[in-house]
Order: sequence, then structure tokens, then C-alpha cells
Amino acid sequence: MLNKNVSDLLNEQINKELYSAYLYLEMNNYFDKRGLDGFANWYMIQAQEERDHAMLIYKYMQNNDCPIVLGAIAKPDKVFNSDMDVLRAGLEHEEYVTASIHTIYDAAYNVKDFRTMQFLDWFVKEQGEEETNARDMITKMELFGSDARSLYMLNQELAARTYSSPSLTLD
Ligand code: FEO
Repeated sequence: MLNKNVSDLLNEQINKELYSAYLYLEMNNYFDKRGLDGFANWYMIQAQEERDHAMLIYKYMQNNDCPIVLGAIAKPDKVFNSDMDVLRAGLEHEEYVTASIHTIYDAAYNVKDFRTMQFLDWFVKEQGEEETNARDMITKMELFGSDARSLYMLNQELAARTYSSPSLTLD
């Protein structure tokens, strides 16, 4: 059994990760309608990864006898008026999730919950990678997005992304 504050924050994080999956599905839907199937693929895989994140926390809580309360997942509230709007919303969201993970880490640190800190190490690294990916997409779009041929090639590059299960596993 973990400290109640740490446990409550982890519980909230399950919801935030599932919301993330929902938000990325919305982004997948935007690009699907735009006819940019590579971008749509990239966001579909992102949605799958977010579900994985939620399930890792869910399993960690179960393994530690923490009470899990599943709440409603909010409707994605973003309005996308351009491709860049989507990309920027993705980065903004990842920065929000990073801050949320750091808040849990800080709570665990304050009660010397070394197990949760070690568990969250993977998420801290993952967030760094996700922010880098989101920034790279924005940079590429700024450089090439206004040229149809370059956008086509960028779309092809994003179409090559494949899903793989997370490197972190819990029994
Ligand atoms: Fe699970 Fe993209 O944060």
C-alpha cells in the first residue's frame, strides 16, 4: 500500500493518460479527414502508447494494493484549424503530462517512496522523448509544411512509424 497522496495522484494519472489517448485519437481523426495518412498513422500509434502508459500505472497500482477509482474521460476540447495547430497542441499536452509526472515523482520523493520513484523513472525518460518528438515534428513542419512535395515526403516518413509495446513491463 502506497502513501495516500501518491496513490491518489497515480490514480489521476491513469485518467490523464487515457485522456491523452483520446486526444491523440482526435488528432488521428483530423489528419485522416485531411487525407494525410502518414500523420494519421503517427497519431494513432501515439494513442496506443498512451493507453499503454495508463495500463502500466493501473497495473502498478494493483500490484501495490492501491484503490483504483476509474473516472469519466473528458471530451477532447481542442479545435484544430490547421495542421500546425495539431502539432502545437501535441507539444503543449506533453509538457502538461511531464509536469504531472514530475508532481507525482515529487510526492513520492517527499515520503521516501523509492519504489514509485523507480517506477516513474521510465515515465520521466519517456516524457523527454515525447516532447522531443513533438518539437521535431513542429520544426519539420515549419521547414517543409508549406511545400506540397515536401509535405508528401514528410507524410511518407510518418507513415513508416510502427507500434511497439513499451520497454517497461510489469508482472
Ligand atoms: Fe503518456 Fe504522452 O504521455
